[in-house]
Amino acid sequence: MLIKTRKEIPSSEITPESVYKARRQFLKTGANVALGAAGASLLSPTASAQVGDSLFARAPADINLASRPDWLVQKVAERKDAPATGSFNTDEELTPFSDVTTYNNFYEFGTGKEDPSNNASEFRIDPWSVEVAGECAKPGTYTLEDVLKPHTFEERVYRLRCVEAWSMVIPWIGIPMKDLLSRFEPNGNAQYVKFTTLVDRDQFPAQRSRFATIDWPYQEGLRMDEAMHPLTLMATGLYDDVLPAQNGAPLRLVVPWKYGFKSIKSIVKIEFTRDMPNNTWNDLQPREYGFYANVNPNVSHPRWSQASERRLPSSLFMPRRIDTMMFNGYEEVASLYEGMDLRRNY
Ligand code: MTE
Repeated sequence: MLIKTRKEIPSSEITPESVYKARRQFLKTGANVALGAAGASLLSPTASAQVGDSLFARAPADINLASRPDWLVQKVAERKDAPATGSFNTDEELTPFSDVTTYNNFYEFGTGKEDPSNNASEFRIDPWSVEVAGECAKPGTYTLEDVLKPHTFEERVYRLRCVEAWSMVIPWIGIPMKDLLSRFEPNGNAQYVKFTTLVDRDQFPAQRSRFATIDWPYQEGLRMDEAMHPLTLMATGLYDDVLPAQNGAPLRLVVPWKYGFKSIKSIVKIEFTRDMPNNTWNDLQPREYGFYANVNPNVSHPRWSQASERRLPSSLFMPRRIDTMMFNGYEEVASLYEGMDLRRNY
């Protein structure tokens, strides 16, 4: 994976969690989403100024999607809070919306960090369908509406740690993966679940390129117990809105204790398998990227240490380097790997 230094983001753009929460509280008390200055003035003066800079000023078009079905926007608006107990939330400062949506890895749109946000504005998620296959009682092709409508969306504030040693804190909106997968009734042979990204040469410039190094489609997989863990999320939105294209609209995996490359974007296929599925980065460079990809400060990448990370936004003058935590701080997942050698199963 390429590593590039990013442009400096002024600290005034950072949205503290308290401000974000204040806005959520405000929205819940019945305000309209089309807020503008009138809405912002209901917050404290400090909060409204910062919110105005970072969130309210953002027009829906900035979400970078050519299509946004009304029912999806509505479901995002009706989301509930993260569960009150457990690691579904964090007090850490949120990474500003601008960083979350302009510093991306989505190689279908290009290898540069800003390529996805620059190339994604025409991305269409309507219509969208998901093929469900393999070891389950309910295989078939489902529309996005079929997939999402029965679920209530919820918010989860998770750390995202990329294998390239940068990290963010992102307020996701989505559904617990176990609730989604259970609906397809996986059978006793289902040991793993494999996810596949859309192939569409019209929409993804890198899929048209003769120089792309990835053998499309991008693919990822989880062991069933990992997929069914309460922390694992199928994300459908972030901050207050539907997922921007560059972050993996309309369906994107989020597994907060694993390196970011496991979080496959723009999913069109879910397959229950007996055998461990292949995954794109492991196919490309097996010595560098494994199947498990659990965040582990004690196991270096062959070309760099994983002991610390840059918490974005960061710059030469404001490096914001912090220690990396085992399982990215989500230690409750340790029991999933009991008895496994995590140096071999990287
Ligand atoms: N999914 C697809 N389809 N294509 C990709 O290139 N990049 C992965 C992951 N999911 C990638 C993908 C990597 S390397 C990371 S770190 C995360 O997406 C980045 O997610 P973000 O851009 O929302 O921060």
